[in-house]
Order: sequence, then structure tokens, then C-alpha cells
Amino acid sequence: MTAELSPIDKAKFVAAKRAVDYVEDGMRIGLGTGSTAAWMVRCLGEMVREEGIRVTGVATSTRTADLARQVGVPISTLDEVKWLDLTIDGADEYDPHLNLIKGGGGALLQEKIVATASDQMIVIADATKQVETLGAFPLPVEVIPFGWQTTKALIEEMLGNLDVLGTTTSLRLANDQPFRTDEGNFILDLHLRHIPNPQQVSLVLNQIPGVVENGLFLDICDIVIIGAGDGSVEVRDINNGTVEHEQIDIIDTDNLFLDVSD
Ligand code: 5RP
Repeated sequence: MTAELSPIDKAKFVAAKRAVDYVEDGMRIGLGTGSTAAWMVRCLGEMVREEGIRVTGVATSTRTADLARQVGVPISTLDEVKWLDLTIDGADEYDPHLNLIKGGGGALLQEKIVATASDQMIVIADATKQVETLGAFPLPVEVIPFGWQTTKALIEEMLGNLDVLGTTTSLRLANDQPFRTDEGNFILDLHLRHIPNPQQVSLVLNQIPGVVENGLFLDICDIVIIGAGDGSVEVRDINNGTVEHEQIDIIDTDNLFLDVSD
């Protein structure tokens, strides 16, 4: 079955499969959102079903919660479990310090709350997400719908004083309507192109009334697992300063490759 996967899906799958090796019996796990995180949820579901491992998942979106229930991962809320052992999530960009841009899937707020409430965060990605400096991917910023155009204008004015290459912003749309997050908010995508000082940008953005949170995840990620289409993975651990290369054994199981949507 894996032979039918495209190289990019195989890369996402092997990164996800390697990441669930970090899961231990009894852990409380933050479940990320997106196509790479969906592979991780499926792998975790298989561990629950086949190996009987007991975990409690806290999903970062309704999409992920639906998938988790579908594949058999027990779901709770962050308020119930309070703190997490591990979060595994995808990313839109990661830099050499494992700082991230996230929110391409519109779930950045819950993703940031969950990752921050975790002892450890592992990012799973393919090599296309790797950059020297963050910013080629438009930075998602979650804003309150009330007065969003004023918030947008304030953000653009602030960006003029910051060390970034672009200052244009766009309201994210879905079916010609403003995209709504799980909290009912809007997303502004900031086309900054180059963010040499992400700490400064993050601080300034979060001071603007109307901004709920931005998609810069700074000093949150501990490990990035980079999958490749040939089934190999690179595991970079920022705390240990280690980089390891491994080949992942892929054993096809019909259950894992159930045609479930993300
Ligand atoms: C969702 C996210 C995702 O992790 C990010 O967009 C990567 O998604 P994918 O794995 O589909 O490329 O931040 O808000």
C-alpha cells in the first residue's frame, strides 16, 4: 500500500512513524493539525488498536479530534488533563534554531496553547519546510473579527518599523468568505518574506489590540523529524545538539492506510 503513496506523502508518513516512537504508555499527547500530523494520528491509532498502548490525546482542532476518534485515539481536553507529556505537530517552516512558522491550516492558536503546555514538542515535516530564515511562508495571525480592518491597518503600520522585507497582509478566505478558525476568528496572512528577528515581530504583533496570537513558535520545538521520500528520516534534537539519520521500516497494514480524511 505504501508503494502507492507519493514521495511527499511517504516523507510525511515516515516522519510521523518515527515520531510516535517517543510515545510511552500512559502519556498525554498533544495532537497537531495538518496533513503530516494526520499521519501521526493514524500511527498513534494503530498503536492503540494493535499494541494496546494507553494514551490520552488533546487535539488542536476539530478536524484532528474527528480523525483521532475515527482511528481509536481517546480524546480529552486540555482543561481536563492540564499538562501534556508530548506534542507532535507539523510546521510550515522551521529554521536552524527550530523556530517555526505555523498556522497554514488555521489552527495556530490551539496549536500554540497545546505545544506550550507540553514537556516536549516534536515537529514532523519534510525537507521543503526547512529555511535559513523564516518568512517565505506568509505568517498567519489570528485576529478578532470585530474591527479586523483596523487591526490589519495597525499591523501594516507596525510592520513598516520592523526588520522585514514585506509589509502586505491579506485576509484568509475560504469559499470567498473569511476563513473562520475553530474559535470563530479570522486569519490575516502577513507576506513578510524575510524575518531575521522573529522575537521582535512576535512581541510587536501580540501587543496590537485585536490580535489574538501569531504563528511564530519560538523556543517551543525540541526535536524536528524530517522525512524523505526514500523512507529515511533525519532526527534533529536542539537540546542535545544531535543529528541522526535512520531508515524507517514500513510494514503495510490496511488499518493504517484506511482512506480517512485529514
Ligand atoms: C496547521 C499547521 C500545520 O502544522 C502546518 O500548516 C503544516 O501542515 P502540513 O503538515 O499539512 O504541511 O500549522 O495550522
